[in-house]
Amino acid sequence: VQLQAASKEQLTQYESDLKSAYQRLQEDQLTLDLTRGKPSADQVSIANKLDGILNGNYVSDSGVDTRNYGGPNGLPEMRALGGEILDIPASNVIAAGNSSLMLMYLTALMHYMYGLEGENATWQGMKKPKFICPVPGYDRHFSICENLGIEMITVPMTENGPDMDTIEALIKSDDEIIGLWCVPKYSNPTGVIYSEETVERIAKLGQIAHPLFRVFWDNAYAAHDLNDQPAPLANLWQLAQSAGTENSIWMFASSSKITFAGAGVAWVAGSDKNLKALQKLLSIAIIGFDKVNHLRHARLFPDMAALRTQMREHARYIRPKFDAVLTSLDVNLSEFGSWTNADGGYFVSFDTAPGLAKKVVSLAADAGVKLTPAGATFPYGNDPEDRNIRIAPTFPKTEDVEKAMEVFCICVKLATVQHRLASLAS
Ligand SMILES: Cc1ncc(COP(=O)(O)O)c(C=O)c1O
Repeated sequence: VQLQAASKEQLTQYESDLKSAYQRLQEDQLTLDLTRGKPSADQVSIANKLDGILNGNYVSDSGVDTRNYGGPNGLPEMRALGGEILDIPASNVIAAGNSSLMLMYLTALMHYMYGLEGENATWQGMKKPKFICPVPGYDRHFSICENLGIEMITVPMTENGPDMDTIEALIKSDDEIIGLWCVPKYSNPTGVIYSEETVERIAKLGQIAHPLFRVFWDNAYAAHDLNDQPAPLANLWQLAQSAGTENSIWMFASSSKITFAGAGVAWVAGSDKNLKALQKLLSIAIIGFDKVNHLRHARLFPDMAALRTQMREHARYIRPKFDAVLTSLDVNLSEFGSWTNADGGYFVSFDTAPGLAKKVVSLAADAGVKLTPAGATFPYGNDPEDRNIRIAPTFPKTEDVEKAMEVFCICVKLATVQHRLASLAS
């Protein structure tokens, strides 16, 4: 059936066929889950070598006895690796605990409560501090803003990154905008890599924004390529240096999806001035991070080449799952929605026709397939067009991804056909 040209009778018949297919799938009593953007057991196992890698030798090449206190900025080898991942000198990097999200929250909290430009320079001291949130985006970024009572302004993502015309216009017209969330490479969930021009313009935002404005550059997928020829990401740090805006940049990354998601190493990077403020706060909270884990990672990754080899192993497991999603969408849904086809990262972002995402998620749930709640990719869980669904295929087995996608496609078709029939009736 050609959806656009179908008559009411054809659509009614189509609906009835889809309902039968849907009911058959319900009888299978599936329990499948496409919500979790986390590595599979096979993927985390690639890093099992971490266990025992120290072999009783706890002293690093840099001469640090990692078992003891000391070194609040982390093991030098891990600062260097973080610097390579984030494209910034090691001296501007802190190698911390296992979670970059925690570092983002702590950094935001620091700006909110304490500031770093002297008294009365906190975000909470402003009337209505606001963050710009490219959408669709990462729900946990939005939770940080929500937790601190920071208002979120959405800006659409384009294939080159967030819509920079809108961002610049917003910043010029509102001097209480104090932040911008960015996932510059294989963005969550669209998979976009920010173009060179976008990165250049982001670097210059510090010239027009409030002095307390900060870009939160969450490079969570910096090394997470699925193809052998990854597109490059422009060097934000160098561009910010040229623009004299280093203080407007915070960078984050972690090895959560490189080694162990629950026991990796996370990094935060920034200008000397920014880092000094964060170091001061950290020194109150912690004497030092887990340097034994730093050393285990340093041994596993003596250089970036070793890390890239590890990422190629990950890609070997992930690619068939992405292929399963994309093939299923190509074959079934060309008339029913649009979706992204990323060269890396963890997600496929799917847009239904307006007003159908919630319905699709609920239909899928009733057929035993858990999808990320509709709206989760927008601040306050509110997708104004109710279209976006984030598909996360890395965790389940490939055959489970295939089965879940069969259900997903039937649900999208059913919701769309029913919607069309309803609009013909009205
Ligand atoms: C964009 C983004 N940032 C951060 C994280 C979490 O990172 P971490 O495990 O280092 O806290 C994720 C996890 O899905 C993510 O997608």
